[in-house]
Amino acid sequence: MKILITKPINTIAMKILEKAGHSVTTWDKAETLSYELLKSVSKDFDALITMLSDRIDSSFLEENSHLKVITNYAVGYNNIDTQTATRLKIAIGNTPDVLTQATADLAFALLLNISRKITTSASDAKNGLWKGWEPLGYIGQNLRAKTLGIYGAGRIGQEFASLCKKAFDMEIIYCARSSKKEFENSLGATKVEFSQLLSASDIISIHCDLNEDTKEVFDIESFRKMKKTSLLINTARGQIIKQDDLLRAVRDKLIYSAGLDVTEPEPLPKDHPLYNESDILITPHIGSATTEARYKMAEIVAENILCGFEQRKLAGDVNKLFQ
Ligand code: DGY
Repeated sequence: MKILITKPINTIAMKILEKAGHSVTTWDKAETLSYELLKSVSKDFDALITMLSDRIDSSFLEENSHLKVITNYAVGYNNIDTQTATRLKIAIGNTPDVLTQATADLAFALLLNISRKITTSASDAKNGLWKGWEPLGYIGQNLRAKTLGIYGAGRIGQEFASLCKKAFDMEIIYCARSSKKEFENSLGATKVEFSQLLSASDIISIHCDLNEDTKEVFDIESFRKMKKTSLLINTARGQIIKQDDLLRAVRDKLIYSAGLDVTEPEPLPKDHPLYNESDILITPHIGSATTEARYKMAEIVAENILCGFEQRKLAGDVNKLFQ
């Protein structure tokens, strides 16, 4: 079988697939693999390993209904029309679990950073703006015993909450579709309505999927309900926040600051106004970017492809075509 990987990834994926007798092509050409180009070159392959930036919509799938498996090199799969894929009997895979720690760690790093203005102050020091020890300069916030609101208490949200509990003994509240009993028992987390999460949290960290219910759920109305001292972290998907409203909220001091690993679009253009706000920190979607996580993600996508070819349940199984 022939497999296309749309961007270079850890070579363990290729080794596993080639050992199983398959032929693997990695798109490493200078020419960007645009939506149209991927749609057309996919006709020559039996399976794809895609990135979260590849749009795999219904038109793409209808034209490539011969594909047996598509696996995202990511845990999120909002870029793939899974309903159409299921109807066309194309197995869809993802990479759960193996990036949980890496992404939770990054959320924690963003939190420490924005609560103590680390990037802002370090960049001032480097740029000659360090005038001396300032009694009123770069004042941040303590994190100890604060209330943490988790929006989307899946694997990553729970891991982040556990880090915050251990490090700062935070009180944890969460919003999720269903109750998470183990989370409640182990960390004393309490499930609350969205409006209470907004008004009671000192820190809100977003960990939900992007879907029609969560798209732009953090808008100006939400920001108005949040504490003026609150810190907002997003390591999930950019579109969960209405970015123009966030800009307004930070400028009008409705919230204190935000740490974003995800934006809409990605990359965020260099001249985007969000970059000009000293109380908004943006990292370039590096949640899963550790050697360990990316190696394991490469192993899982290879395993997903093999399972799909053999009509076995995928390791990261999105549309559950096989048992
Ligand atoms: C994913 O895998 O969906 C994450 O966004 C990576 O950071």
